[in-house]
Amino acid sequence: MTAPARPQRVAILISGSGSNMAALVAAMTGDHPARPVLVVSNVPGAGGLARAAAAGVPVATVDHRAYPDRAAFEAGLEAALAPAAPDLICLAGFMRILSPGFVDRHAGRILNIHPSLLPKYPGLHTHARALAAGDTVAGATVHVVTADLDAGPILGQARVPILPGDTAAALAARVLAAEHRLYPAVLRRVAGGDWSRVDL
Ligand code: GAR
Repeated sequence: MTAPARPQRVAILISGSGSNMAALVAAMTGDHPARPVLVVSNVPGAGGLARAAAAGVPVATVDHRAYPDRAAFEAGLEAALAPAAPDLICLAGFMRILSPGFVDRHAGRILNIHPSLLPKYPGLHTHARALAAGDTVAGATVHVVTADLDAGPILGQARVPILPGDTAAALAARVLAAEHRLYPAVLRRVAGGDWSRVDL
């Protein structure tokens, strides 16, 4: 493992409230080997934009609905990202699928957090699916983004119990709290040049 000589520049892509983004930004101080350089939302007015701005992080909006297709949207995303020159791109509740072309241009440098213990439950409605299956454990996964949805190499997982009487909303809140511990822990390790797996 070789630690990078300078703090790693991290861009964070969001679509919503940005609680994971806020956890990442809060962690990137002091001796943390990364710094937030930009938060981009594809949703205008997403709650996370105000949170990022309040934390002093530059923000941008690239509204996917303003573009005719995915390629044009991603060109807009690249144009927003380029001046920030990120070393790493963290997806944090970013609800657009990135094309293989975009992923290739940033190969091995895009991370995502997903609210299930992958490879279980890629895609949407993870908590309802875990409850319907009768699982007793749920959790979250941080992985490297590849062209295959939610299937890239796993960098870390956090497990939480499923409790009797859980609803999808109750389980989602418990998993989200675990996400806020997991994602900063993985980012600290990766930005320091250590890609070994984190288990919480
Ligand atoms: C998080 O639970 C995250 O794991 C999930 O969306 C939520 C975003 O919350 N991401 C996905 O489902 C990605 N497919 P946040 O905006 O408060 O961080």
